[in-house]
Amino acid sequence: MSSSFQGPAGWSARFNEPVSELVKRFTASVSFDKRLAEVDIQGSLAHAKMLNKVGVLSAKDLADIERGMREIATEIYEHRFEWSIDREDVHMNIEAKLTALIGDAGKRLHTGRSRNDQVATDIRLWLRGEIDHIIRLLRVTQLALVDLAEQHTDTVMPGYTHLQVAQPVTFGHHLMAYVEMLSRDESRMADVRRRMNHLPLGAAALAGTTFPIDREFVARELGFDGVCENSLDAVSDRDFAIEFVAAGSLVMTHLSRFCEELIIWMNPNFAFIDLADRFCTGSSIMPQKKNPDVAELVRGKVGRVNGNLVALLTLMKGQPLTYNKDNQEDKEPLFDTVDTVRDSLTLMADMASGITVKKDNMRAAVLKGFATATDLADYLVKKGLPFRDAHEAVAYAVKAAETARKDLSDLSLAELQKFSPLIGDDVFQVLTLEGSLASRDHLGGTAPRQVREAVLRAKQRLT
Ligand code: ARG
Repeated sequence: MSSSFQGPAGWSARFNEPVSELVKRFTASVSFDKRLAEVDIQGSLAHAKMLNKVGVLSAKDLADIERGMREIATEIYEHRFEWSIDREDVHMNIEAKLTALIGDAGKRLHTGRSRNDQVATDIRLWLRGEIDHIIRLLRVTQLALVDLAEQHTDTVMPGYTHLQVAQPVTFGHHLMAYVEMLSRDESRMADVRRRMNHLPLGAAALAGTTFPIDREFVARELGFDGVCENSLDAVSDRDFAIEFVAAGSLVMTHLSRFCEELIIWMNPNFAFIDLADRFCTGSSIMPQKKNPDVAELVRGKVGRVNGNLVALLTLMKGQPLTYNKDNQEDKEPLFDTVDTVRDSLTLMADMASGITVKKDNMRAAVLKGFATATDLADYLVKKGLPFRDAHEAVAYAVKAAETARKDLSDLSLAELQKFSPLIGDDVFQVLTLEGSLASRDHLGGTAPRQVREAVLRAKQRLT
């Protein structure tokens, strides 16, 4: 009979030799999953309470477990807890410490449970709290944008397509576009949370347990909306993490677009805005520089989150049912995504409220770009010309104005009439920026009246 190796981990009596240091390091996750400690304790306490309720755990054992867990939580909170990679992960570190503190009751905690359903529960509990935080931050960021939009419901700026001046829009309207994007992000996050909020615990290793457990009780204790209804699925799928990171990618995509605009607008050739100094840095060699570093970094960090999404998709692909150790790799991409999205949103909200708007430069830029050309074409259509003919007539007018280095509104009535006899002196109303803005007066349009209403609706939703 060969002697067995009795290591610190719970499963090692079956083994004849210890793992190498490298294997230990390679397989351990405690260095990062200790972040789940709080929810791990929360999950264990609910499990223990249920075991007692169904008569599997004595009242004395439950009281000991509760006392031990309180001590452990305090030690962790005060950074006194000694994490050890000999105990592989957060779950075994806490359980071993519990047993060291309270003896046999600690060893009974794992009755009817496996680390497989334990970790699946922990991640959901943890992510649920983080999603709630991210939803709050999405709302704070939207509010910051709405507040700025409210001050600029009639500030005119060039609207762009292909980054070429297209038509006049209001700055408020432009900002409210991002509010729309972030409000969809908010509802996407809420969707992820809703689908995720089901309890895996009770699935045990994969097939369920022989103990008379009460899963609904545990679900209620932990604030889940229901229980996962197939034990094999409960311990193995991480689709909720993938969904969350995908939603996070979209948040970052939206923020990166806004950041790109801030960077362009702050460029002295545009000079539409200035960002508060606290979000910028100087150059060590060029004294005149003020670089929008924070905006650039938020733009750049999309790459990291998209990478996390690909990592998780790849991790899950082709995994046979049920739990595989591959799944231990779900945590770092998930944690990194949460940190990145949270920090980016916090910074964006603050940065948005510190934007200085240079209205005159925005106006001057619209005037340079023949932004009211479509208005002139629409004017001709209203006088009876088919749109394609109107489009052509105005193209000729723009060409002439460009040669004369004038805006359309600088051409005289006689000059304009050369392009169409339908043009009368009411045309100048149409060619002004304010006239152009005010005429797009329907739900979703850029007219200041519509933007004011959009701001009101958003405020009602957000406050
Ligand atoms: N640290 C593991 C993880 O994160 C916990 C589950 C381990 N289960 C197992 N059967 N080895 O996935």
